[in-house]
Amino acid sequence: MNLTIIGTGYVGLVSGTCFAEMGNNVTCIDIDSKKIEGLKNGIIPIYEPGLESIVKQNIKNKTLHFSTDLKDSLKKCDIAFIAVGTPMGQDGSADLKYVLQVAKEIGEYMTSSLIVVDKSTVPVGTADKVKATIQKELDNRNIDLSFDVVSNPEFLKEGDAISDFMKPDRVVIGSNSEEATKIMRQLYKPFFRVTTDRVIAMDVRSAEMTKYVANAMLATKISFMNEIANICEIIGADVNKVRIGIGSDSRIGYSFIYPGSGYGGSCFPKDVKALQRTAQEHGYSPKLIEAVEEVNDKQKLVIANKIIEKYGTDLKGKTFAIWGLSFKPGTDDMREAPAIYIIKKLTEMGAKIHAYDPKAMDEAKHFYLKDVKNIEYFSSKYETLKNSDAMILLTEWKEFRSPDFEELKLQLKEPIIFDGRNQYNDELMKGRGFEYYQIGKKTI
Ligand code: UDX
Repeated sequence: MNLTIIGTGYVGLVSGTCFAEMGNNVTCIDIDSKKIEGLKNGIIPIYEPGLESIVKQNIKNKTLHFSTDLKDSLKKCDIAFIAVGTPMGQDGSADLKYVLQVAKEIGEYMTSSLIVVDKSTVPVGTADKVKATIQKELDNRNIDLSFDVVSNPEFLKEGDAISDFMKPDRVVIGSNSEEATKIMRQLYKPFFRVTTDRVIAMDVRSAEMTKYVANAMLATKISFMNEIANICEIIGADVNKVRIGIGSDSRIGYSFIYPGSGYGGSCFPKDVKALQRTAQEHGYSPKLIEAVEEVNDKQKLVIANKIIEKYGTDLKGKTFAIWGLSFKPGTDDMREAPAIYIIKKLTEMGAKIHAYDPKAMDEAKHFYLKDVKNIEYFSSKYETLKNSDAMILLTEWKEFRSPDFEELKLQLKEPIIFDGRNQYNDELMKGRGFEYYQIGKKTI
């Protein structure tokens, strides 16, 4: 099939590349001509494992093209995917200006019947707005072309996006047209074995809602567990044991119940807020979802509060070695990362930061922490330790899982670790001579 993917951000680029890998003829469109020029030469603007090689391979195979010319691409197009950003507006709702601008252009340029797919995460009711916007342009042109608007939300995890796309748990297709559903099923067929077709077809609004509910449910699990961790700590229980105790119940399961410094990233914070706004706009006050966000905001600072409890509020003369800046391992993404909040709080109190992250240091330097003065970046985790009073672990990168603890003891001024991701066993740490602080269990 001939596909146009509009928006070469994270979702658009991964989706376009994976569709090309399945033999479709894909053109990825973006208004950023510099980005498009780079992509034509295989320069990938984001870090995502495995993406670069498939992009290059498909450029070579002539299945993947990059362009700024939407009009030209729509001349030969069966399905157009809208994959532009939906940033959070000031009131917490998703801002649809880019999505609707693209819809307008589709209406201006389309020359034959078309399926238009909302791939961006958009509030319930957006497909109707996209439809109305396209129809208005067609009316202005005085032309009668048939089109359907389909909701096909993405469920990609950063760091695993390629495998999530190539081997999906499910593909949700929301459409009020049988014909469009049939074509979308065909498009996704190669991603499944005959016996395991995991396409779930439903109406448009339910599909739009499914995306928000999946993310809000996962965020709820995390905030629930973080709240339990805080209670465990006060009453003298160990959340790590409680986690295993409850996870063994197959109805609960082990995933997404790891306590930590709170969830971050581009999806959970934005989607939880947007779902709240949607409910409120319809006169419903979603208590639980509001609490999920409130608990998470507080959780981001639990580790900073432990530090304050130990050293007091004046941190002048103290230096902390931070291991991990990205919101989770496997990505350079720092959007809503706990590290931003913790580092800002500690430096405001006078502390100096030595930071290391395997991938996110450029993001930190040039964007998320560019205003922070008292921070120095190092090219290895051990280099951060010299002259530091304690190590603070904020992202569970694999290379932090079993470090050389003797080296830590040798380099740190005192053997103290604040662990925002519960990576080590506290009894072992005590045996090794560390003062070890974690989430959800009192220091022994
Ligand atoms: C998420 C969804 O998983 C994905 O389906 C959706 O399309 C986009 O949002 P992503 O943002 O890449 O993907 O991150 P994910 O791996 O889901 O983790 C989100 C956050 O939750 C991270 O900050 C992570 O550290 C945190 N988390 C996760 C926990 O604190 N505890 C857990 O048990 C699991």
